[in-house]
Amino acid sequence: MNRRKFLTLSALSAPLLSFQRPLTGSTKPIVVSTWDSGMPVNAAAWEILSKNGTSLDAVEAGAIYIENQINCCVGLGGYPDRDGIVTLDSCIMDEKANCGAVAGLERIKHPISVARKVMENTPHVLLVGAGAQQFALENGFTLEPQQLSEDAQKAYKEWLKKSEYKPVINIENIKPVKQHGPFAPAFFDDGSPNHDTMGLLALDNLFNLSGAVTTSGMAYKIHGRVGDSPIIGAGLFVDNEVGAATSSGVGEEVIRTCGTHTVVEFMRQGYSPTAACKKAVERIVKRNPQKAKEIQVGFLALNNKGQYGAYAIQKGFVFSVKSAMENRIIPSRHLL
Ligand code: GLY
Repeated sequence: MNRRKFLTLSALSAPLLSFQRPLTGSTKPIVVSTWDSGMPVNAAAWEILSKNGTSLDAVEAGAIYIENQINCCVGLGGYPDRDGIVTLDSCIMDEKANCGAVAGLERIKHPISVARKVMENTPHVLLVGAGAQQFALENGFTLEPQQLSEDAQKAYKEWLKKSEYKPVINIENIKPVKQHGPFAPAFFDDGSPNHDTMGLLALDNLFNLSGAVTTSGMAYKIHGRVGDSPIIGAGLFVDNEVGAATSSGVGEEVIRTCGTHTVVEFMRQGYSPTAACKKAVERIVKRNPQKAKEIQVGFLALNNKGQYGAYAIQKGFVFSVKSAMENRIIPSRHLL
């Protein structure tokens, strides 16, 4: 090949090559997210990552996407607590361990963006309840009407008949789901995505990791209950020297074991993302094997080379991956 031809070819293939797996074995940019409903979330994050954007902007964009889905179990369309009130939990963390979170936030559409403002505009990490709402309003967010989505209203009415507080293993088992094509997220028959917690992790072109989590938390919880999702080290942890992890499932078990911090520490010891998630799952199961049979917790991890993996207690946890080479839903391995 002469020099002129080589230069022409190089110029043409440059945008592609910049996203190929480099010789070091790293994949970047890449975004991974919990559940099959992560597919369109990843697409929103990819819009930013593929244009050389930061992982922080990418994970916020992904979370905003899902919070915008009014029939979704994440965000204001989510299921309420036992008093019929939707309360939202969210957090965000970047490559420098900057982090922000909100918990028990009512009537604000984008808790992830409030969490980012907590991170960037305050010396604090976590704001809760009325204080979080006041902070949101002071920062230009608007109060949404206090009303349940049609789907949540129906489900809450049904739940009130027995008022039984019982976590379900995989929230997708509540209602029948449809799979619209190989890469489409699974939806309830009424068209709504079917999971209650969205956690996503991204590695950008500068090898910076960030993560975000957004949820309406466990359905029919006691008013004021906060799960793992907005707790740094439980629902989300990022350490740019090693990797990042997020979780979905019964938050109390994740908080008790500092779940995602545990996953990242296992990766620091040299475990692969999948093996590190498995070790964290084993820790939960070992603590109370009987209880573990009745609950679900799934961990998802991404290391700073762009390698990913997941592990869950039970069958049923899946995650979504998007890079230049992949765009798919992957079933997690499981312990029981
Ligand atoms: N993992 C979500 C929650 O427990 O609230």
